[in-house]
Amino acid sequence: MKRLFVVAAILAAFVAPAAAQPKKSPEQAWNELFAKREGKEHQFNKFLAETVKGRAPGKALDVGMGQGRNSLFLAALGWDVTGFDISDVGVKQAQAEAAKRGLKIDARVGDVDKFDYGKEKWDLVVGMYMHEYLNRNAKRVVASLKPGGLVVVEGIHRDIDKASLTGDKYGYVNNELPKLFSALRTRYYQDTVDKADWDRSGGKPVPVVRFIGEKPEPAAKKK
Ligand SMILES: C[S@@+](CC[C@H](N)C(=O)[O-])C[C@H]1O[C@@H](n2cnc3c(N)ncnc32)[C@H](O)[C@@H]1O
Repeated sequence: MKRLFVVAAILAAFVAPAAAQPKKSPEQAWNELFAKREGKEHQFNKFLAETVKGRAPGKALDVGMGQGRNSLFLAALGWDVTGFDISDVGVKQAQAEAAKRGLKIDARVGDVDKFDYGKEKWDLVVGMYMHEYLNRNAKRVVASLKPGGLVVVEGIHRDIDKASLTGDKYGYVNNELPKLFSALRTRYYQDTVDKADWDRSGGKPVPVVRFIGEKPEPAAKKK
């Protein structure tokens, strides 16, 4: 009996503190991360820069804008940019940086699953390091593109075998992006090993995928 009591006491000592710690919501987890990154300069994504080179600026949507590095880059090129993110800390930092640089962006707090993407609204949709948050909204992204509009995506391949910030496995599986966006013309697809420009990957080369899809113009009506 005494032994049973000792075992129960030991178990309680370990289990109680763990149970007392509530699981963080995704908003909390991202807010904490962005609060730590406050004031650090984060370069825009190079693949995005290559994609828009020589393209006339239009209306762009940055899905999961984080601290706004890509929205700010596009706005400086003359794009009319809307960005949203679940992290109000990230969005506030993006707004503050835009004000500092004298740029105009429409930065909002929003959830990928509730955001109104609209229909044929955007010339460019940016989905950088958004993984499952983008995947599960691919149909809505396709509908939101104007004919001739592009979706540009970069992310980690599932081969990285890591957990996301919220604990799930993350990364794209083989050919996932062209399949998800099969309603678009695949203008570019790359499955490679390279430095990811999202710094939780540690700065070392990792499995990375890149994708550009273009919304086809409607077929001309036969006379
Ligand atoms: C890996 S970060 C990438 C941020 C940004 N696209 C970039 O490349 O700098 C993923 C982003 O997704 C956002 N996010 C996570 N869940 C979301 C959701 N349900 N709706 C909108 N944004 C979300 C996070 O706050 C975070 O900013």
